[in-house]
Amino acid sequence: FTLRGPLFVRRSVLFLTLLVHIARGQVSYSIPEEMEKGSIVGNIAQDLGLDLQRLKSGKVRIYSRDSTEYIELNRNTGSLLSREKMDRESLCAKTTPCAFVSFDVIFENPMELYRVSVDIQDINDNSPVFPKSKIEQKISELAVLGARFPLESAIDPDVGVNTLKKYTLQPTDHFKLNVQNGAGGNKNVEMVLHSPLDREKKQHHNLILTAFDGGKPQRSATVQINIIVLDVNDNAPVFSQSSYKTSVVENAPKTTIVTKISATDADESSHGIQYNFEHVTYTVKALFSIDADSGEVKVIGDIDYEKHKQFTVKVKASDHGGLTDSSEIIIDVIDVNDNAPKITIMSFSSAVSEDAIPGTVIAMINVQDLDSGDNNKITCSIDLNSPFKIVSSLTNYYNLVTDSELDREQTAEYNITITAVDGGNPPLSSKEILNLKLSDVNDHAPQFEQESYNAFIAENNPPSTTILTVKAIDMDWGQNAKVSYFLIDGDLNGAPLASYISINSESGVIYAEKSFDYEQLKSFKMQVKAQDGGSPLLSNNVTVNIIIQDQNDNAPQVLYPIQTGASVVAEIVPRAADVGYLVTKVVAVDVDSGQNAWLSYKLQKATDRALFEVGLQNGEIRTVRQVTDKDAVKQKLAVVVEDNGQPSRSAVVSINVAVADSFPEVLSEFTDFTHEKQYIDNLTFYLILALAVVSLLFIVSIISIISVKIYRWRQNKLFYQSGANLPVIPYYPPVYADGTLQHVYNYELCGTTDSRMSDMKFIRPYSQNTLVSQSRMGTVQREKKEITNFRGNIPLINS
Ligand SMILES: *[C@@H]1O[C@H](CO)[C@@H](O)[C@H](O)[C@H]1NC(C)=O
Ligand SMILES: *[C@@H]1O[C@H](CO)[C@@H](O)[C@H](O)[C@H]1NC(C)=O
Repeated sequence: FTLRGPLFVRRSVLFLTLLVHIARGQVSYSIPEEMEKGSIVGNIAQDLGLDLQRLKSGKVRIYSRDSTEYIELNRNTGSLLSREKMDRESLCAKTTPCAFVSFDVIFENPMELYRVSVDIQDINDNSPVFPKSKIEQKISELAVLGARFPLESAIDPDVGVNTLKKYTLQPTDHFKLNVQNGAGGNKNVEMVLHSPLDREKKQHHNLILTAFDGGKPQRSATVQINIIVLDVNDNAPVFSQSSYKTSVVENAPKTTIVTKISATDADESSHGIQYNFEHVTYTVKALFSIDADSGEVKVIGDIDYEKHKQFTVKVKASDHGGLTDSSEIIIDVIDVNDNAPKITIMSFSSAVSEDAIPGTVIAMINVQDLDSGDNNKITCSIDLNSPFKIVSSLTNYYNLVTDSELDREQTAEYNITITAVDGGNPPLSSKEILNLKLSDVNDHAPQFEQESYNAFIAENNPPSTTILTVKAIDMDWGQNAKVSYFLIDGDLNGAPLASYISINSESGVIYAEKSFDYEQLKSFKMQVKAQDGGSPLLSNNVTVNIIIQDQNDNAPQVLYPIQTGASVVAEIVPRAADVGYLVTKVVAVDVDSGQNAWLSYKLQKATDRALFEVGLQNGEIRTVRQVTDKDAVKQKLAVVVEDNGQPSRSAVVSINVAVADSFPEVLSEFTDFTHEKQYIDNLTFYLILALAVVSLLFIVSIISIISVKIYRWRQNKLFYQSGANLPVIPYYPPVYADGTLQHVYNYELCGTTDSRMSDMKFIRPYSQNTLVSQSRMGTVQREKKEITNFRGNIPLINS
């Protein structure tokens, strides 16, 4: 044993005691397993105290009962050598001590026998081994705490301290290790759950189980434990949001997807979450649907922003295990410009006075739009170029006011179109037409159609003749335009104008009140007023010129020679007169004018037509030939004076011409103008007769009047006595009018009961008074007074 160095020496000390014990026939050796081949197990010579000679002489040898020879003997040295490696585990397994190798050493000469046994000592040459390299374990996530899960133990063939000593498990967050010593000295290993598993947190747990032996150096083995956590429906679905906000435009077509909700479930087994509405109103049900599988919310009805601006829909997600989650969808409805503005006329005065001042309110308008936002921003306008404007008073209230002066006479009626447009895109609009009538104000005076009127009227017109019609127009309306016509009072020749002229106040027709005489009144002016019926009334004047036109109503008047029925005037032509001797000149006038006063003279009758001629224009009577002695002294001429009127009027003048050289000759000739005297006598008789008849008529009339008066007086008395209401019998006494003779002469008849006192006044036209005819030569002239005044007796010749 010394061969093995100091360590071995110590051991050999130990063995020495054994050896001593065994020295009586038995030697034991102890060697570690796995010694190399040829290693010295021991020296038999030394250990038995034998001489090396003895080894030779004794022919020492080794005998094994079984044929296996693990040890051989060196006869020269006595050393025991291992013939092969010895593995304790295969020789002895778990048996200790392992005295598997034993043999006998046999000597001859003398025969000696020693029993040798070799004890093989264990060394830690084996690591623990797990039966499987990986362990898979499925555990429900709901496994209770303290649950045990046995694990397969590791195996270490070594024995003693070299065999399995302990296990460790890493990590230990959920499991810890529990090792129990089993019946056969085995260690039973198990995992114990000490903190709950959650598949949803961690589905796989990887643990390392390590087994250690007690050798030196220590050996170990590991095994991986895969723990699969099995799912249990322990989680409810969870909506991705606690509330979903979304929006949808109103009038969105059906099947429009509003939103898609989703919920997740941590559990593995629960795909197929079902989505549903929860406690929804009938309205929501009619408008939206939800797809139970996909969670899509769709439009199925007509969404109207004006009815609902927002919907809150509760939704539920449920898994197959009946676990649920709730959420809500808030659907905002987005307004679409689907409502036109609505115009409401709050108040409207359909008629406004034309003198309304600018700013007068005509109508109050309210506009509304059911939409919101810009779609609700309304602009109100009216047609341009109208004398109105629209002003905003309050929000959505407008006033329609007049913007400028109005004039009914220009425009009597307006159709005002009010347009309201909202701010949507595209905008919607609506219209309202107001029919406004202007009421009249009397702001126009009647206007005559002409600046002045000229009217012509022929003289001698019958009274009430229409002269002309004036017309004035008033631009106003109704009573304000009702024109009346009046004459503006004035005087004409000292008499009121109204006695000449009248006007129909309604028609404007101007009438003559009397017959005009051109010779007295040639023209006059007057003012006619046209006045309307307004308040205050307005009027206008116009000048009317009335021009009276001449008519040929006057025959020429012969001024010279003066014609008197009673006197005889003669022109004297001396017998020695030459041809062309101016006998006389007929002077005549015509009070008419113009053509009517244009006179021409003609010889109508003559004793000797060949002797005289009359100047057509100037009325001069001249001799045509030499007067002879044969010519009669007494020549009678009749000259007709004719005016140029239509029809013409004429006057005849008789001229006595005496062809003589001396006055006595003339006288003797002219005294036998007796038949003329006879004519005058006849005339006187007729006049007296006429006067007598008139006087008689007058007396009869007076008697009649008196008798009627008496009769009525008696009737009245009767009436009062009887008290009866007798009808009054109208009685009109005969009318005694002024004997106004319309033409040249006026006669005044002053009737008295005394016919002798009757006086007939002869008034001559003024022209006759003013014109004084001058006789040129040798003419005989009568005093005017003697001719014009006569009272019963008429002087015949007063020479
Ligand atoms: C206004 O409208 C009415 C009805 O449409 C029509 O009769 C009338 O002539 C119109 N007036 C004006 C001035 O346009
Ligand atoms: C019309 O005539 C009257 C009387 O002469 C006068 O008072 C009035 O002012 C006149 N009116 C007009 C409008 O000329």
